[in-house]
Parts: sequence; structure tokens; C-alpha cells
Amino acid sequence: MFSVNITHIESRPSKTVNEQYDLYVDCLHCEDRNLASLLEELRKRSVTVQVLSPPSSKADDVPWFPRKCSDLDIVANDIIGYGGGLDADHPGFKDTEYRARRQHFADVGLKYRHGHPIPRVEYNEEETRTWGTVFRELTKLYPTHACKEYNQLFPLLIENCGYRENNVPQLEDVSNFLRSRTGFRLRPVAGYLSSRNFLAGLAFRIFHSTQYIRHGSQPLYTPEPDVCHELLGHAALFADPMFAQFSQEIGLASLGVSEEHIKRLAACYFFTVEFGLCWQNGKMRAYGAGLLSSFGELKHAIEGEPERHPFDPVKTGEQSCPITEYQPVYFYTESFEDAIQKMRAYTATIPRPFAVRYNPYTESIELLDNVDKLKSMAADMKADVTRFCQALDKLNN
Ligand SMILES: [Fe+2]
Repeated sequence: MFSVNITHIESRPSKTVNEQYDLYVDCLHCEDRNLASLLEELRKRSVTVQVLSPPSSKADDVPWFPRKCSDLDIVANDIIGYGGGLDADHPGFKDTEYRARRQHFADVGLKYRHGHPIPRVEYNEEETRTWGTVFRELTKLYPTHACKEYNQLFPLLIENCGYRENNVPQLEDVSNFLRSRTGFRLRPVAGYLSSRNFLAGLAFRIFHSTQYIRHGSQPLYTPEPDVCHELLGHAALFADPMFAQFSQEIGLASLGVSEEHIKRLAACYFFTVEFGLCWQNGKMRAYGAGLLSSFGELKHAIEGEPERHPFDPVKTGEQSCPITEYQPVYFYTESFEDAIQKMRAYTATIPRPFAVRYNPYTESIELLDNVDKLKSMAADMKADVTRFCQALDKLNN
């Protein structure tokens, strides 16, 4: 009737109107007049209709991406591996109690909506014991194996977020702490997201985090990210302004680009934020969360003699990313500033018909695709430069 090519449709109970449903629809390559008549018809039949990504001639071939923080409600439920389902070789596959707990955590992630506090979870005795073993073993290695930024920030997590051997910290407490430091936030998620969706969260300074814990039979091994990986591996460095900036740059670069470039950006993310090394004071140190949350691989990457190369987004982006074994190769950087410069130079080469920026006041992504938007951005920059000059004057006087 309308000749509109629908590529994705999903429904869920509305959080704003009782006993109604929110419907999310993705469509592609349709004529403007067809889309307009469809929208007109939908408006007659619905409580509200919102166009998340307005059609434009430039953006016709651009994949959909979230424009507002609340759009991450769509992204976070688009999971490709459900938290409650385990592979046959998973340590908890035959443990019905563990599977029920995984399902419970998955449900928390699925029900979560942007803007709400992250539900607090009571971890049972065995789960707390598992966390305790991981915490005890890893904290022995951090002083000699983790980068200096991590070692400066980790004590703040102990001080502010309940990091203790006998207590699994709550995502809500960690998220609030990170927000006060760099604006980064955690968001609970039920399972794996696609690379495109996961990277999109970073553009908003939002990190999708699991909340379940690995199986107690193998506390020093997990085949997938768990709360130990998120809170011991990732959390501390999102409190570092340069690292936060670096992570957001990858996220912004990913919005609306082709699958080929998503794959390259995901590899850059994997070999930095997950498995990155840095060269500090003549010593190799780890800043990647996959290393900082793995007792065995952290020792292997620092004490062993694996292949290591300087971080170069062009080459790093071509590297394959094994997830069931130690990495055959690692990439190191001199500093997060250096990594940001290299990422910026690289992302400038990725084709996209517009530039984007994140507006922290509206918590939205702005497409810089016309002169008025550039004028508005210039006005913001002018105000900042004026304040910068005033501050410089005061320092010099
Ligand atoms: Fe991770």
C-alpha cells in the first residue's frame, strides 16, 4: 500500500502510556512521498509518532544510529547473544541454579530504561566468594602490571564504590562515580550487542555493562564478559578524562558508517580498550580491560614475550580478534593523548556524508550537515575561547 521497505520492527510495552505498546520501525530506500503518506496514516492511528532519523538525500544510505540517549533503549534490547542462554561448553551449562541467576540478570538488563537508576542486585554467598577470589588475585598484580592511570584511579573505586574482597560493587554506584568524574555512565545489558550498537553507546559516554558473574567452579576463567570484567577491567579508566575522550572518539566515528568500517573500528576498540598496552617509564603496562580482568593473560602480556606493535589504527583495524584464546599480538601506545591523535587522523579518512558531535546539554548527537549548525557550533566555541582567554589573563596577572 505504501511501498516502504521495512528492515526491522519491534514492539514493547509502553513506558509512557498504560496498556499500549511502543513500536520501533526501521525502513530503507523508500521514496519521500511514500514515507510521508505512511507517516500521515500512522499519526491518525497512534498516540504519538516520532521520526528518530529524518530522511535526507545525503543520509539515504546511512545506517540508522541513535540520536538521543533514550534511543539506546532500542539499541540495548537488540542483543545478539541472550544472557540466559549458555553454550554447551560453558562452565555453568548444566547448573540449573546458575542458569536461573543468569536469566534474572538478563531480565534486569532487558527491563532497564534510560534515565532510571540501575536496579541494585543482591549477590549470593557463592557469587560473592567468586568475586573475592578474582579481586584478591588481580589486585596482587595491578601495582606491577597495570598502567599508572589505573593504579591512581583504582583506590578511588575502593573509597567511593564499595570495591572490597567481600562485596560485589553495584553498577549504580560505579556509574554515579564515573559520571561525576568524566560524564561516563554504565547501562545494564542482557547479553552481547553487535559491534555497531556497542560502539554507538560510547558516543554518548555510555558503557553497556553486564551484571551477572562467572560460574563459581572456575573463578579465574570466563568465556564472556561478566561483572568482574566490567568492574575490575573497565570501570577505573572511564574515570580518566583522556581515556574517556579516546573511547568516545571511537564511538562517534562509528555512527552511520559502513559495516566494513565498523569492523575496523571494532578491532581498534578491541586492541586498545580491551587489550591495550602502554609503554610507561621504560616498562610495558596494561590498560585494556580484557587484560586487567584476566590473571593469566595479564601475566602473559607483560611478563611473556608476545608479539607487540605500536598502535596504528590502519594496521590495528585489520587485525582479527580471537576471543577464546590469548591474543597472538598486542598493540601499545605511548599515551592516551597519542592514541587519540592517531584515532582522529584515522577516523577523518572514513567516508560519511556529515560530521557529528555529541551535545552534552541535550544528551544528543548533532549532525553537522548545514551552515546553521556550524554557526551554532562556532558560537559555542567562541564562548569557550573567550573564557579560556580570560582565564589565561588571570593566571598571567
Ligand atoms: Fe570488555
